[in-house]
Amino acid sequence: MLKQKILVTAALPYINNVPHMGHIVGSHLPADIFYRYCRAKGYDAIFVGGSDEHGTPSAVAAKELGLHPQQLVDKLHNIHKKVYERLNIDYTNYSRTSNLSHHKTVQDFFNVINENGYVSKGSMRMYFCENDNMFLPDRFVVGTCPKCGYESANADQCESCASVLAPDELVDPHCKSCEATPIMKESEHLYIRLDRLAESLDKWIEGNKGTWRSQVYGEAKKWIREGLRERSITRDLEWGVKVPSEALENKVFYVWFDAPIGYMTFTREIGEDVFDEYWRDPESKIFHFLGKDNIPFHTVFWPGMLIAHGGFNLPLNVVGSNYLNFEGQKFSKSKGVGVFCYNLLDSDIDIDVLRSYLTTVIPETKESDFKWGEFRTITNNELIGKLGNLFNRTLNMIWKNFGGQLNYSTLSDLNGIDNHLIEAIKTEPLSIGDLFFGVEFREAYRRIMQYASEGNVYLHKTAPWNLIKEGREEEAKKSLYLALSLCRSLAIVSSPILPESMQRLWTDQLNLRGSLSTPGIWDEATQISIPSDHTINKPEPLYARIDDKRLEELEKHLSKPHSLEELVK
Ligand code: 2FM
Ligand code: ZN
Repeated sequence: MLKQKILVTAALPYINNVPHMGHIVGSHLPADIFYRYCRAKGYDAIFVGGSDEHGTPSAVAAKELGLHPQQLVDKLHNIHKKVYERLNIDYTNYSRTSNLSHHKTVQDFFNVINENGYVSKGSMRMYFCENDNMFLPDRFVVGTCPKCGYESANADQCESCASVLAPDELVDPHCKSCEATPIMKESEHLYIRLDRLAESLDKWIEGNKGTWRSQVYGEAKKWIREGLRERSITRDLEWGVKVPSEALENKVFYVWFDAPIGYMTFTREIGEDVFDEYWRDPESKIFHFLGKDNIPFHTVFWPGMLIAHGGFNLPLNVVGSNYLNFEGQKFSKSKGVGVFCYNLLDSDIDIDVLRSYLTTVIPETKESDFKWGEFRTITNNELIGKLGNLFNRTLNMIWKNFGGQLNYSTLSDLNGIDNHLIEAIKTEPLSIGDLFFGVEFREAYRRIMQYASEGNVYLHKTAPWNLIKEGREEEAKKSLYLALSLCRSLAIVSSPILPESMQRLWTDQLNLRGSLSTPGIWDEATQISIPSDHTINKPEPLYARIDDKRLEELEKHLSKPHSLEELVK
């Protein structure tokens, strides 16, 4: 049987800054956990992403620094890449949209939708700054959002309420670089006929109602209800993918036209055959992971582009998250409110400890909050108190009392307590797997901790330390053998969230062979199969408890804001 193909993507970050934790929990981390699960389950999964290097965000940032956009994105791409590596985000290909291969893919894509009759030409009244003598792209104009009153909305979207704005809707607009009030001036542009795509899009959205998170479905329906209009796909900018001159001279594509095509380019960079398998074979499933403000683009604009093109798969799930706050406030670099990922590069923080906490605050449905106090509680009480504790107790007893070797595997004389644990090993990994596949990562985490707790309860009830004292060695061995089997199972099911520490446990302490990234390893988590003569290695605590001093140290280091000048020098 052919293996299920799964393509996982994380939203391509703009390269005008370094990500903060909100970006990590909104897309990269959930996508990574999901990808790691799919691979462990034996699906043929790949994970692509990359830097969204075009558009006004990087053009604005470069202008402010007196750099060419290419110089800025070269620096920031490298920093982003290192940050994701540091966080152990296991991209199959993390690339960039300024690659020439991407430009070609975008132009070819455009030519097809143009031939298919989904592109129109027209002129648009655009903000023009007479002081700077240029058309002002969306992010060069800031003003008040007409929908929610937020005062720093961009011309194309309000980041506070996520409303997508038409070019002239902003209240009290002003030029971002010189503060002047821009005038409106005519400019010729190309449009995608979203109006003609509305019906097919609505049908597709309805078909996904049961699969998508309800807020994602709701957001998409809101767009459809408000009525889809033609939407411009070109901009008066130098920086970006050039529009083929037969269509229009001297323009580039709107960044939201070129960026999602990046998912395709980055798949194609792995191989032409790989591209066909994931984008054309109707059996392949595509999962996009993204933050709240990206939802309309991934549920309407991008699928509209795909329908207009024809011949490619549409995403199966658009996994949109909500926003992450920081101690009850919005992340803000200027105010120094938040945790800034650049600091991870020279921090000695244990990345799995961070991943563990971040998983518990993934804003899956509602907004959530990063709180240092909770970071400590989750680490000490859950990760160490439940998971680490079970590993430690079990392995230490085997190490100290039996020299690391139980010489036991014949499961005989099972009582009710043993059977209960055996049943859990046979079924829990499957339930936890379903939660991962259903993108319910917080619940999966809770279930993993509960699963570990079952082991702690089992040890408490069977009390192998007493059995040893009483000379009931076989019974003590049975209890420890089952607890050890549970540890092995837990290492597998925790590995999508805790890849580094579980591999360390697996190899260095459990003394098991192979990698937890081995495709198909998941179903082994339901088996009790450790050979009787297996010898473990000397156990060590996997994680360090966090005390006041350590918490203060981490907080101080990771909350340091860095200016863009400092990052690119
Ligand atoms: O919001 C952002 O950071 C955008 N750069 C996301 C783009 S996702 C995509 F479609 F490429
Ligand atoms: Zn200006």
